[in-house]
Amino acid sequence: MYSQVIAGTYFTSKDDQTVQVGENMLICIDEQGKIVRIIAHSEPEFQQVRQAAAEQHHLLELAGNERLLPGFVDVHIHAPQWAQAGLALDRSLNDWLNTYTFPLESRFADDQFALKVYASLVQTLLANGTTTALMFGTIYNSSNLILAQQAAKFGLRALIGKVAMDDPTQTPEYYRDESATAALQATQEFIEAMFNLQQQTQTTLLPVITPRFIPSCTNELLHGLGELAKRYDLPIQSHCSESDWEDQYVQDRFGKRDADVLDQFGLLTEQAVMAHGTQLTDEDLSLFRQRQTAVAHCPISNVYFGNAVFPTRKALQAGNQVGLGSDISGGFSPSLYRNMQQAVMSSQMLTDGVNSELATGQRGVPDSRISMKTAFYLATKGGAQALNLPVGAIEVGKQADFQVVKLAPALTTESTDDELERLLYQTESKDISWVMVGGKRVYQNQKGHK
Ligand code: GUN
Ligand code: FE
Repeated sequence: MYSQVIAGTYFTSKDDQTVQVGENMLICIDEQGKIVRIIAHSEPEFQQVRQAAAEQHHLLELAGNERLLPGFVDVHIHAPQWAQAGLALDRSLNDWLNTYTFPLESRFADDQFALKVYASLVQTLLANGTTTALMFGTIYNSSNLILAQQAAKFGLRALIGKVAMDDPTQTPEYYRDESATAALQATQEFIEAMFNLQQQTQTTLLPVITPRFIPSCTNELLHGLGELAKRYDLPIQSHCSESDWEDQYVQDRFGKRDADVLDQFGLLTEQAVMAHGTQLTDEDLSLFRQRQTAVAHCPISNVYFGNAVFPTRKALQAGNQVGLGSDISGGFSPSLYRNMQQAVMSSQMLTDGVNSELATGQRGVPDSRISMKTAFYLATKGGAQALNLPVGAIEVGKQADFQVVKLAPALTTESTDDELERLLYQTESKDISWVMVGGKRVYQNQKGHK
């Protein structure tokens, strides 16, 4: 009747404050990889469905120390920068781009290099529980399609952008689109190629309109990309108010705020995801809400480049959409666990402030702390909402994108809330037993350790 049934205990976010625990449940999945029914132990059909699934060898039973979680949704990652993740974090944003990042990305003109990096990245994301990723590629379509093929091959849901950057004053000659026209033409070719690849592979592969950020793009390019997004009805990704330098650069060039300029070019839509936003004002956040544009909060990266802590709690309370991004390699870790931890830690530091020379109570921004439950929401439901995809939750109608995690042995009596909190703080890749995307197993931990 069902093509697979998972038996076990799960955690899933209800909203940014609340987590639902499903103890000893059956999660029933259909042929298309969708969750079609969830049956509680107390329901009359429980035993019957369980037994039928077992007889047909469709039952996946979690061990007593395993828990089922939604796969994570990483809403901001630079795929080529995987090659330098954990390196080169000693400079501020603009200097970092020119010294390390543009030279690295220019190496993706070489397909062999791209294949090596992308095969590694896609498998690493899955092994860390990430099942959907919104990614920047490079300016080269050939390498972008290699990334898409690797995602399809290993089973990652991938939304990928051909990076568009043509402004000669802010990009180096060796790594730039020749002109706005050339960048728009290449973006259009990429869109068509992705649609074809999606047809062939029957996987979630979506092209994304990707102006790198305003400093890299001429007005002509920004305008053209806004038009393409509208014509093809596609997602958009970029950076907005990421650092003091970037925020100021846009004001100097346009006499307007970053958010207003993006909006003027049609780049703030309900399908847009803007990374960082550490300098967003209340007015900017209000514009994001009006447009239903999401923020990709990248807490590790923000420590290095953000010059401030994104006020996650304030944004969520105001009704902004927020997801979680690793921002490899501005962020050094491919793990959204590591990013959830940093999101909580940074929010605590925002609350307290960091300069002990200031009086207690004057250092920070009161009530900015988020809980681990909120961080879990960002990594799952918040990201899914940002991308408008039916993933990120263990609910009927959502895709069967899961990770199975082993708990460390409890040393004291724990409530289920405690169990989840400890799991989110302590899980590493080695603790993830297996990962499923759309009902297909895409990762199996062979050794029990990495
Ligand atoms: N702004 C423009 N390009 C980049 C990039 O590659 N990483 C980050 N973090 N910010 C950017
Ligand atoms: Fe980024």
